[in-house]
Amino acid sequence: MADLGHLFCVLVSLLHSGSCNDQPKAQGEHKTLFVFGDSLFDPGNNQYLNDSVEGGALPWPYGETYFGHSTGRLSDGRLVPDFVAQFAKLPILPPYLQPITHRFTDGANFASAGGGVLVQTHPGTISLPMQLSYFKAVVKSLRQKLGDVAAKKLLMKAVYLFSIGGNDYFSFYTHYPNATQPYRRQYVGMVIGNLTSVLKEIYGLGGRKIAFQNAGPLGCLPAMKARDPQLGSECAEEPSALARLHNRALANALKKLENKLPGFKYSIFDYYSALGDRVQNPSKYGFKNGKAACCGSGAYKGQNCGGGRNGTEPYELCSNPSEYVWFDGGHTTERANRQLAELIWSGGPRFSGPYNVKQLFEHP
Ligand SMILES: *[C@@H]1O[C@H](CO)[C@@H](O)[C@H](O)[C@H]1NC(C)=O
Ligand SMILES: *[C@@H]1O[C@H](CO)[C@@H](O)[C@H](O)[C@H]1NC(C)=O
Ligand SMILES: *[C@@H]1O[C@H](CO)[C@@H](O)[C@H](O)[C@H]1NC(C)=O
Ligand SMILES: *[C@@H]1O[C@H](CO)[C@@H](O)[C@H](O)[C@H]1NC(C)=O
Repeated sequence: MADLGHLFCVLVSLLHSGSCNDQPKAQGEHKTLFVFGDSLFDPGNNQYLNDSVEGGALPWPYGETYFGHSTGRLSDGRLVPDFVAQFAKLPILPPYLQPITHRFTDGANFASAGGGVLVQTHPGTISLPMQLSYFKAVVKSLRQKLGDVAAKKLLMKAVYLFSIGGNDYFSFYTHYPNATQPYRRQYVGMVIGNLTSVLKEIYGLGGRKIAFQNAGPLGCLPAMKARDPQLGSECAEEPSALARLHNRALANALKKLENKLPGFKYSIFDYYSALGDRVQNPSKYGFKNGKAACCGSGAYKGQNCGGGRNGTEPYELCSNPSEYVWFDGGHTTERANRQLAELIWSGGPRFSGPYNVKQLFEHP
């Protein structure tokens, strides 16, 4: 019978382009992963947006290393959530907006390049409140399929993985490069306030296990450094200072939620330090270049990977992306993403705490 069952699974998978190997082997073993965020986690949602400014397909050479074609991911290959899904023995989660039959018992990925916590950040992308409304639609569909009790159980055991906030600070820094410290703190308070209310809503729907990648060293992006030729090889201080302010507030906010909400557990991956160290000491991690991008043009090859929006701008492409930390002016290579994902998944308390994502999944 097992063989017949397997054959049936193979036939069904052929029809639905799924796979049989990732079927749950036993109750309780199957993991569910919901992903919210920005370009660092977007598996191609923006391709399905109506707005032509932020939407549309990405050109080659995005995707060249792993997929062999562009998938909408801003890297040469897989992103952090793709690796996390694979470590959890899940299939790579497709973009939520892809018009296919989704298996939401695996989870869903709502992330959108350019998206922020605040709806004002990069209009035309999927802001966090919009991602939350998509998640609510998924919850509804799970309740219909599994019933309220089983759906709640699945939502309580699921891990909710976030990378969000960076774009809010890029946008703020671009508009107010000389903002005073009180004004910066007020802005961080607004971002964290809105983020906290989204987390409370997810908790209200059953979510208990929240995992964050914190804001990165924003001033170290090749695209950001290219804005200021006087920096030399240094990172721009101000954008990174905003990220640090955010990261301290994020840690406080999550700690408060843990104290207030029974059963709430979280993980913060210190992306700021992990990526910052790779930028400063690339050879320690097997990279040759931590400063410039593999793909692009201009200073640090910070711009126009793939030829820019209309694909016609000249750009250079390195022959081996795995020698680089950065694939384009703002996004890391698949090799760097794998290293970062390993730290999120099973990194020690110096990088992922109070839990790592593997421990969050294992927690009852
Ligand atoms: C795009 O537009 C169509 C038709 O107006 C609409 O049904 C769909 O929800 C829109 N998609 C997004 C992602 O906004
Ligand atoms: C910010 O301050 C610098 C000097 O500190 C000045 O050169 C620049 O014009 C200011 N920018 C804005 C947008 O006010
Ligand atoms: C959320 O952001 C809006 C601006 O988009 C702001 O007016 C509001 O005060 C923020 N809410 C919280 C709780 O911080
Ligand atoms: C492509 O975009 C650039 C601006 O980024 C513009 O100068 C150029 O004319 C565009 N080329 C085409 C063929 O549309």
